[in-house]
Amino acid sequence: MLEELLQLQEIAVEEILATNQLKALEDLRVKYLGRKSRLRNIMSSLGGLPTDQRPKIGQAAGEAQKAIQTAIASQMSLIRETEESSSYIDVTLPGRVPDLGAPHPLIRLSYELTDIFRGMGFELFEGPETEDEYHNFDALNTPKDHPARDLHDTFYLEAGGLLRTHTSTVQIRLMENRQPPIRMISLGRCYRKETVDATHHFAFHQMEGLFVDHNVSFADLKGTIEAMGRQLLGPKTQVRFRSHFFPFTEPSVEYDFSCSLCHGASKECRICKGTGWIEIAGAGMVDPAVFESVGYDPENYTGFAFGMGLERIAMIRYGIDDVRLFLENDLRFIRQFSNLR
Ligand code: PHE
Repeated sequence: MLEELLQLQEIAVEEILATNQLKALEDLRVKYLGRKSRLRNIMSSLGGLPTDQRPKIGQAAGEAQKAIQTAIASQMSLIRETEESSSYIDVTLPGRVPDLGAPHPLIRLSYELTDIFRGMGFELFEGPETEDEYHNFDALNTPKDHPARDLHDTFYLEAGGLLRTHTSTVQIRLMENRQPPIRMISLGRCYRKETVDATHHFAFHQMEGLFVDHNVSFADLKGTIEAMGRQLLGPKTQVRFRSHFFPFTEPSVEYDFSCSLCHGASKECRICKGTGWIEIAGAGMVDPAVFESVGYDPENYTGFAFGMGLERIAMIRYGIDDVRLFLENDLRFIRQFSNLR
């Protein structure tokens, strides 16, 4: 019987320590300590045992009972503890605030411009930053000996090709693959051989626009640019065109927006330098030679194109005074724009 008691204790404790539910623990308590349990049964029969055995068996039964009770108590508090720690929420703790990112100011401006032009029915296209001379120059009516190439000196790649100097390349890439009508914009990075300072960088961003259809006129160009200016810099914004030259447009212009800061009223304005105008970009009517290089009939179609740098506009919009900040990847700079609308 001594042997049986020791075995009983061992099995009971082992089973108890293996449970992880209060209900199962209660069942084990009934099984091992309940009125009908083997242990109770032994204990109540002690009186009938020979006197020399009684103390030993009695002591062993008492020890078994104690061991089982201790195991139940400790297992119960363990189960309670785990249940509490997994369901307990301290509502007074400060919440975990996710680390919100902020769009880079140039990306933010790109979104804004894309919205403006989508509203006028333009589609967004992307072109490659590594280009060939044909798409960057020749197809844009800028042959090898053309002096305009000097202004667009760039990085030439060892494997052939170059880093594009403007987004006008996308005009060609799209027209090669599509028939008119075309209304597209394209935004992206461009490169030129520039010495880096507060207003120049060898890597910069442009937005290109192209509209080709029957009877597209200079008035359409003017209206489109004006609509953009007013949405970008305010409803009072005026546009001024100055004649200019680009190999791929004829006639060509540069256009300015009236100063959104002083509206021409301040001789000391830091944005327009007292002129009342901010130089924005180049534009013009697509040169017939460009249509010929993509297989369009210039007698049948006309179009306008424009291209503008994004950095200048972002600098004006967000009060940035050094173009190098855009590409330095300094989080202290980018975080300053997280609260803009
Ligand atoms: N690609 C020209 C530049 O980078 C801008 C331009 C685009 C001019 C389209 C006219 C038409 O200077």
